[in-house]
Amino acid sequence: MSTGRRKISILDLHKMKQAGEKISWLTAYDYPTAQFAEAAGLEMLLVGDSLGMCVYGYEGTVPVTMDQSIVHTEAVRRGAPTAFVIGDMPFLSYQPSNVDAVKNAGRFLKEAGADAIKLEGGVRVVDRIRAILDAGIVVCGHIGLTPQSSGQLGGHKAQGRTAESARLVIEDALAIENAGAQLLLLEAVPPEVAGFITKRLSIPVLSIGAGMHCDGQLLIVSDLIGQFQAFTPKFVKKYANVAEVVTQAMREYVSDVKAGVFPAEEHCYHMLEGEEEKLAGLIHEYE
Ligand code: KIV
Repeated sequence: MSTGRRKISILDLHKMKQAGEKISWLTAYDYPTAQFAEAAGLEMLLVGDSLGMCVYGYEGTVPVTMDQSIVHTEAVRRGAPTAFVIGDMPFLSYQPSNVDAVKNAGRFLKEAGADAIKLEGGVRVVDRIRAILDAGIVVCGHIGLTPQSSGQLGGHKAQGRTAESARLVIEDALAIENAGAQLLLLEAVPPEVAGFITKRLSIPVLSIGAGMHCDGQLLIVSDLIGQFQAFTPKFVKKYANVAEVVTQAMREYVSDVKAGVFPAEEHCYHMLEGEEEKLAGLIHEYE
């Protein structure tokens, strides 16, 4: 399905910031969802490590592997040929060394056709960011609430809610821009802090739970369509209730099968013309 849109580049996203045009961003993990997102006009897609929870049913993002991320990114790329697709570096794909970081970031481009990678962390991952940039790869930083290190943060908690904690978020943001990253995601940060960072930085600053002053918004598709049921973060707006629609459709199917009303005539492949008599003969042979 072609939308007639030309491929979105990092320069387009920077121009959108300069023009004050908001950027829409959503996660996607599979081909059909990517097709829907492309048709809906999303500029950016993230194949987030949230796929661990939303697709695989893990409790968190930590178990997600590079191989899983690559398979899902490849599928999303096929479904969304013009969106700006970002692969999310899973836990331990970049933390051990610059070499790991470059090799794994490169896999997203080489094997899955991604446009960029995202990695969690501020000041402490600046070296990794520089190494990945040196390999010619577009980098999106991710600070504030960083789920891969939520253990250190004392759980999935909003960040920057005191002046002292806001300073750390601001320092992380400045370090990421200075390192050369071309995009920044703020997660679960007060709008006052996110607004200041958005004005201060020249790169697009996107929000998931960081309020309305950022250059664009990200949501997790499974939250937006009402598919993920374990919990709903405060920053989520549900636009549909897919869980209800799908469960109801399945209930009706079960009931139709049990009542013998599915399949009906129109769902059957009938014998070709002239073959029915031959079949009768064939059946006779077996009787
Ligand atoms: O994996 C993901 O979807 C993310 C978002 C929570 C920002 O990193």
